[in-house]
Amino acid sequence: MDGISLTEPEEDFQAEETQSYGRVGVTFGDVGTASLKFNISASVDKGEYVQISHPEIGWVLGQIDKVERKSDLSIEKARKLNRGEDVEIDETVEGKINVIGYRDDNGLLRVPGNPFSAGEPVYTAQEKLIREVLGLKESKEGAYIGKLRGHDIKVNMNINTIAQKHLSVLAKTGSGKSYTTGVIIEEMLKNDVTMVILDPHGEYTSLAKPGNPKSSDRFDVRARGYGNKITEFSPNPEINKGARPLKFTFRNMEAKEILQMCDLNKRQSYISSLESARSKLSVKQGPFDITDVIKFLKGNEENESTTLIKALERLKKKKIFAEKGSRMDEIVKKGRTSIINLKGTPPDMQGFIVDKLATSVFELRKRGKIPPLIMFAEEAHNFCPQTGKVECSDIFRTIASEGRKFGLGLGIITQRPAKVDKNVLSQCNTQIILKVTNPNDLKALEKSVEGMTKGMKEEIKRLPVGEAILSGAGLSEPLLVQVRPRETKDGGESIKVI
Ligand SMILES: Nc1ncnc2c1ncn2[C@@H]1O[C@H](COP(=O)(O)OP(=O)(O)OP(=O)(O)O)[C@@H](O)[C@H]1O
Ligand SMILES: [Mg+2]
Repeated sequence: MDGISLTEPEEDFQAEETQSYGRVGVTFGDVGTASLKFNISASVDKGEYVQISHPEIGWVLGQIDKVERKSDLSIEKARKLNRGEDVEIDETVEGKINVIGYRDDNGLLRVPGNPFSAGEPVYTAQEKLIREVLGLKESKEGAYIGKLRGHDIKVNMNINTIAQKHLSVLAKTGSGKSYTTGVIIEEMLKNDVTMVILDPHGEYTSLAKPGNPKSSDRFDVRARGYGNKITEFSPNPEINKGARPLKFTFRNMEAKEILQMCDLNKRQSYISSLESARSKLSVKQGPFDITDVIKFLKGNEENESTTLIKALERLKKKKIFAEKGSRMDEIVKKGRTSIINLKGTPPDMQGFIVDKLATSVFELRKRGKIPPLIMFAEEAHNFCPQTGKVECSDIFRTIASEGRKFGLGLGIITQRPAKVDKNVLSQCNTQIILKVTNPNDLKALEKSVEGMTKGMKEEIKRLPVGEAILSGAGLSEPLLVQVRPRETKDGGESIKVI
């Protein structure tokens, strides 16, 4: 060890305190500025934060990216062991540290410009340094998502950044997307953010009711319901009791839109009959509805089209038209959240409804007629698929690329990142990633998450339920977080068959 300085700089982070956190190893070999190898002397885990002293800067934060046990156990020695013979094994545990950096005098995150020293001790990082370097401070605009894994440090994401840069919540089925999205929405509700939630399974209505987080829990969460800030709408109020009916005004819709809602082949061929029926009716009787159009088509021999009439009769039975359709200024109200509960609505109809709603939201927001808002879309692969086109494909692309300018944020939730339109996903610069194992989905993630290391990709495959990687929204680094318990009732609890 001669010639190697082990003196620690006298910084804010006192040596005495550092010692109590424990020395876990010593750097060795070729020592760089962005990554370091170290010989491990204590039990440490991959992902753990460490601090190393830099000769010019002082304490710098790093994160263990790799831990490996190296041995001289050759195949010959292994054979001897198999035969029950005694064999001496010489082994060491080595690791790799990714340097995260330090805060300079202006509070900016920086990485050293010249190398660390070899032989420098590596310590478990102090929480104060972790907080400072990762910028984990509590703020009014912060959404409390959970705690940094293995630490008692709250992780907040900036609500304004989430809204401006769009959000995606990505994970395989059953790994906690809806639960975690519920946590984010609770934080937004607390801050009176205006929201519209497109909810195909009716999982989010439970946000109105208090849940039962354990009072002893280290997350410091109390049960709370947000019924006073939420309105539920549904095209199917018969199934979704308590929801206000979501209705459209038939006469305000174009022939093309009406045909989109009909289960018909070759819709194009019926446009002119329907168009002409609508214009003749409006001249003859003024306001008209779907019943009037059916009657008109039946009574008009020239135009008679049994297929079209039958399709319109089926559409009428879906009861989504009313004399006065739902008003957009009732659906999007400042400081309130509307849940569009689509449970029981057939997929093609869902696509149409979402298209109509999202288009109106975008247009009205552009003209400043409704307040700035965030629109969440569960099962987004159905609304903006990568292959094939659905009614609302175009509007999702438009909102993803232009929404930010007009104060319209997007939250995309999906179990198949690879199946979501890349043009939409690539615009979501705030990401919450839970467990993903499908190789295509992992590839899609790799392309869209900035700063994702190889180690992190491995981590994503193994994340337990309740742990997530957060990236963007004011965080300087992607972080591994234990998601906090819900304040409200969890609407997506797995159903037991026994
Ligand atoms: N942070 C958490 N703490 C406690 N339980 C959780 C947490 N996250 C998820 N769960 C539980 O795990 C189960 C699956 O969660 P969730 O319904 O959110 O998954 P999902 O990814 O939305 O699934 P799907 O793709 O089927 O919609 C639920 O029973 C939920 O209660
Ligand atoms: Mg879900």
